[in-house]
Amino acid sequence: MPVAMKVWVSTLVFLVVGSEALTVPLINDLEPGKGWPQRNSVKQPNTHSEEVDPFVSTTEFTTEDPSFNNEEATVTNNVAAPPKIIARAEEIESKVDYSGTQLWKVPTDKNNARVVIGRLRRRNLISTWSGNQTYIDILVKPNAIENVTRIFKRESIDFNIVIEDLQKRINEENPPLDENEVELQDRRGHRMTWKQYHRLEDIHGFLDYLAKTYPAIVSVKTIGKSYEGRDIKILRISDGKATNKAVFIDGGIHAREWISPATVTFFINQIAENFDEESDDVKNIDWYFLPVVNPDGYEFTHTSDRLWRKNRKPLLGRQCIGTDLNRNFGYRWGGRGSSSNPCSDIYRGSRMFSEPESKAVADFIKTTSANFTAYITYHSYGQYLLYPWGYENAVPPDYIDLDEVGKSMAEAIRSAGGSQYTVGASSKVLYPAAGGSDDWAKSQGIKYSFTIELSDTGHYGFILPTSFIESVAKESFAGLRVLSRQLNKNLIN
Ligand code: ARG
Ligand code: ZN
Repeated sequence: MPVAMKVWVSTLVFLVVGSEALTVPLINDLEPGKGWPQRNSVKQPNTHSEEVDPFVSTTEFTTEDPSFNNEEATVTNNVAAPPKIIARAEEIESKVDYSGTQLWKVPTDKNNARVVIGRLRRRNLISTWSGNQTYIDILVKPNAIENVTRIFKRESIDFNIVIEDLQKRINEENPPLDENEVELQDRRGHRMTWKQYHRLEDIHGFLDYLAKTYPAIVSVKTIGKSYEGRDIKILRISDGKATNKAVFIDGGIHAREWISPATVTFFINQIAENFDEESDDVKNIDWYFLPVVNPDGYEFTHTSDRLWRKNRKPLLGRQCIGTDLNRNFGYRWGGRGSSSNPCSDIYRGSRMFSEPESKAVADFIKTTSANFTAYITYHSYGQYLLYPWGYENAVPPDYIDLDEVGKSMAEAIRSAGGSQYTVGASSKVLYPAAGGSDDWAKSQGIKYSFTIELSDTGHYGFILPTSFIESVAKESFAGLRVLSRQLNKNLIN
């Protein structure tokens, strides 16, 4: 029996914050006495345009909508207002309710499956979560279950109901910590744990804590502001050796992929807290970590809609909010697997780097003199280790090197924790999608550019319970160790 889905418009409390308050430098912005490397900018590549839905094999214009809920859960913000006002959400009482929504896994070996799914999606009966060459995970709205079941039966398309009631899973995903744990947090000087998915404040507080505690090796820098005015914070760990190679790691480009910031902060904790005992391979790298690229979206998934993917910048005169930051980077921007429809979950933005969050990342990478030899961006889900190109079914000239390192990372992950990661070119293993950060990083000459899709393979999907955080992050760190060993072995480049 389908349950009606109620969507309440979020009531955000807006506080007007003086610009001074927003620009006060962090305690450790300039620590530890060594300025962060600077250099001049590099030129940009060209664009071209074409539009394809990543999961559906047609070239039709898609109106597939963002997490199919609430294009109308629009904040009562003046669409045209500059980001002077910060949505310092005091709290929000109502969230998008996914009661009765189901997750289905649909094999796509039948020729018509993708076409039918594309049609259902345009009719707004379903939305897609993930997929590859062999299956698609779809969300089915409660009031569409009967209808979609009938259509699949008629077309003899198989499906497995993986999640019966998504809201139930959301409610169980991130339980509050018990009192002992909370007390422990207060004594530790920061609130971060890997037993919970934390709010942005805890994550940023943790970064500041490390910078204050280990000023000789750790420093924090705000590289820009999100649309709603939140900090975009990078933490660097370095012993300052001139021969070190630099590695850039980010997470949280997509708001709902909570395991990503959790994993990146786990890495930070491992390296910062145990630096002296770490291997030379780890110590001989200047690590740059940006755990939450999309802070507005991340907070929105906590306060309002657990399945939000994009950032939160509205488009002048349009109802729909948000750009997919992983379609907004400036290499082959506008190509396949990205949408020009602002209501799409893969909306590419009005031009390359139209979004403050993607622009901040690119500006930082271009203007620092750090010699990045690797860029890794953590997403979920599916357990893939992907290398360029993502924009088109093609590989870069040195893809053999990436494949080799990727495979040794996947092997390390498997022997550390047992999870199997599929390694390959992202356009081939997944689907073409232009405007990704990995392609852009590669275009900037960063040799080892990877997108890692963390666990799981679709049992929980984005709603991965907190009990998985430590094992996912730990095995992933084994992969990172292997990368650092490879980089130190490779004296060329
Ligand atoms: N799931 C990721 C996305 O859709 C994969 C990105 C892979 N990289 C790429 N350039 N297509 O954003
Ligand atoms: Zn993602």
